[in-house]
Amino acid sequence: MNIETITFENNTLRIINQARLPGKYERVALTSLEDVINAIQSLMVRGAPAIGIVAAYGFYIHVKNLKAEGPLPIDKVVHSADLLKNARPTAVNLQWAVDRMLNIYKINENKHNLLELLKDTAIKIHQEDKESCERIGQYGARLISDSMHILTHCNAGILATGGIGTALAPVYTAYKEGKNIHIYVDETRPVGQGARLTYWELTHNNVPATLIADNMAAGLMHMNKIDMIIVGADRIASNGDVANKIGTYGLAVLAKHHGIPFYIAAPCSTFDMRIKRGDDIPIEYRPDHEITGYWQIDNMNYHVYNPAFDITPADLISAIITENGVINKPNKKNIQSNLKPEEFVL
Ligand code: MRU
Repeated sequence: MNIETITFENNTLRIINQARLPGKYERVALTSLEDVINAIQSLMVRGAPAIGIVAAYGFYIHVKNLKAEGPLPIDKVVHSADLLKNARPTAVNLQWAVDRMLNIYKINENKHNLLELLKDTAIKIHQEDKESCERIGQYGARLISDSMHILTHCNAGILATGGIGTALAPVYTAYKEGKNIHIYVDETRPVGQGARLTYWELTHNNVPATLIADNMAAGLMHMNKIDMIIVGADRIASNGDVANKIGTYGLAVLAKHHGIPFYIAAPCSTFDMRIKRGDDIPIEYRPDHEITGYWQIDNMNYHVYNPAFDITPADLISAIITENGVINKPNKKNIQSNLKPEEFVL
């Protein structure tokens, strides 16, 4: 597991530039609020937990930079926090992490050690996510038997978190336990997080994987080649509906039709108990060129529809795996008894 997606050493935040993977492995230092927002929006760093962690460090770095310039009015800090929170709208981990940092700021605004407290909180958010991934891995691996073929979509692995991933955590744990497993990786059009990132990190860790185009999943299911589907989440509504990478909903419908278990793996920071149902989750629309650019044809001025996420209704989900255990038949009651109250987004 020698991939360090996000590092914070000698007071410097560095990320792997995922926009260039797998062609180029490049680590980039982020030294300002603008750097962090740009990295999140351009998908240099992506995946719900990872953008929350980077935003937390970004908040600390920004306050440190501003304080070096002189007195810092709270309005300015709140405004910066809003800019960070809105860098991408769907993954609630981003808001959750920034709100947690802002709260520490407000409580300790006049303390001499404010910067230390902010830095410690960002490190804690990072460390907690790493531990959540481990526990998701342990709970999820119990659902995986020897010789299983598992389908995953997008990238919910090491590159998307502070640890071994959410959807890929059970995979890595089961593999480490010696289970003979094989992963089908959806390309995940339009940006190719599966083809570029998931395949890269799985094979980097010796997990047997096969890349498929997104439209091949149904055929594999029909041929009984898929035993289980595990994906991540960007936001989970209080009724268990899940927003995740575009294409997730289609896989859940297919899984239901073929009687294949469909799992979501996500930390508690991905739940948004303020939101009643999936259709109320804000969906991000991405630029046209993410779709047209693939063809490398000039002047492709087409009308494009490019939502980054879709909603999977709770009744298509077999279970949600969190760091606290497995939520079978996800609904408000079952979710509430899995989450600890302080982990709700209020
Ligand atoms: O647009 P992305 O690459 O940020 O989308 C990522 C996903 O949809 C992941 O499945 C989700 O964030 C979970 S990552 C552990």
